Amino acid sequence: MANIVVVGAQWGDEAKGKVVDYLAPHVDMVVRFGGGNNAGHSVTVGTELYKFHLVPSGILNPHLTCVIADGVVIDPGALVVEIDGHKGRGLNFENLRIAAGAHVILPYHRLLDQLAEERLGDGKLGTTGRGVGPAYTDKAARIGIRMGDFVRPDRFAERLKVALEQKNAILTKVFNLEPLSFEALYKEYSEYAAKLRPYVHDTAALVYEAAVNSRGILFEGAQGTLLDLDLGTYPFVTSSHPTAGGACVGTGIGPTMIDAVIGVAKAYTTRVGSGVFPTELLDETGNYIRERGHEYGTTTGRPRRCGWLDTVILRFAARVNGLTCLSLGHLDVLAGLDEVNVCVAYQTSEGETLRDLPADFSYRTDIQPIYETLPGWKEDVSAATTLAELPANAQRYVERVQELAETRIGTLSVGPGREQTIVLDKTLEEILASTRARR
Ligand code: IMP
Repeated sequence: MANIVVVGAQWGDEAKGKVVDYLAPHVDMVVRFGGGNNAGHSVTVGTELYKFHLVPSGILNPHLTCVIADGVVIDPGALVVEIDGHKGRGLNFENLRIAAGAHVILPYHRLLDQLAEERLGDGKLGTTGRGVGPAYTDKAARIGIRMGDFVRPDRFAERLKVALEQKNAILTKVFNLEPLSFEALYKEYSEYAAKLRPYVHDTAALVYEAAVNSRGILFEGAQGTLLDLDLGTYPFVTSSHPTAGGACVGTGIGPTMIDAVIGVAKAYTTRVGSGVFPTELLDETGNYIRERGHEYGTTTGRPRRCGWLDTVILRFAARVNGLTCLSLGHLDVLAGLDEVNVCVAYQTSEGETLRDLPADFSYRTDIQPIYETLPGWKEDVSAATTLAELPANAQRYVERVQELAETRIGTLSVGPGREQTIVLDKTLEEILASTRARR
């Protein structure tokens, strides 16, 4: 009976999809509130592996309404391919709704994303090259095209002419490229528009209705807290708001209608793309984590940078998202190590100790992690169903992380499967039972 936001507490790829999938039976709606097909998550059901980029993973539950909300940017071609691919495997899309206010990613966005990265050279952001940043740029510059307009041929043509005139000026005059043809683009994208038209709705109204009258909603974040445009490691961030506040502006729901915020974190840290990463491991241990954790991007296949868990980051995530609890995953990956480190604070080159993220974190190449070293565990933990079934050292690790993060851990994940989730205390039950006095 609760409206719950699920966010990434690190730099993305925390396996939020698994948490959403686990909670989905308890709600009536799953809403994706930001990002685009730069995101990618995998959900394992039995022996089947499903990969999602834009479609909420809730689609695996036929009782749910799944919404791609206003805060998302949509590559229509990619979405059509994703829907058709999943339909081919028997998933039902009758309950999919796409926000009329969501913005469209067009070929010039992808092109400009790649060209901008090339121009930045060594200073490149390491974007996914999916056109996400340029699409959000156009949204803010008010020359974007929204799904509601995209699926109306006359309005699409009108908006595309305005945008293309500007984009072609940039492509030809700044980058010395050929202009894009209006006719070719309009023709190709009108076909996608026709396929997506039945799904397009005023989803803010649907979400409000469900928030008030249904068993509850899961607001599914993409990316993670430190990739937030305002709160993350700017400029090495994405162009949307993966933090809990993004669930409100990205869907049209007011903050007072949110009952709980769950922050998903791995038992270690990963990052894709450039930027600061104090606990990064460039050694054998980093490789060990990468291989055991299959830390390669779902969207781009890029190897993820891997490092120890950083509780400075978790405390920051708890603060800016107002976390109700953490969901700590990938604990199985750390098995086999003699010792595990947890970053508790940073040391500056001047010898100062920082317990909190400095405001200029992105540029602080001088900070070193201060670690607490805990004994590792050799045993496989992937079949554990309770905390007590974990090896003593793994239990100790979890308890210490909880103390250092200053946030309750609601669930632990010991493998990709639905059943490989350990519910730690009454937090989840309390969350699911919480219903605010709603109008
Ligand atoms: P963009 O979102 O493609 O513009 O990329 C901006 C930054 O966010 C880059 O460092 C990307 O690697 C990172 N990023 C975007 N989406 C994800 C994600 O789903 N997981 C992890 N990193 C991401």
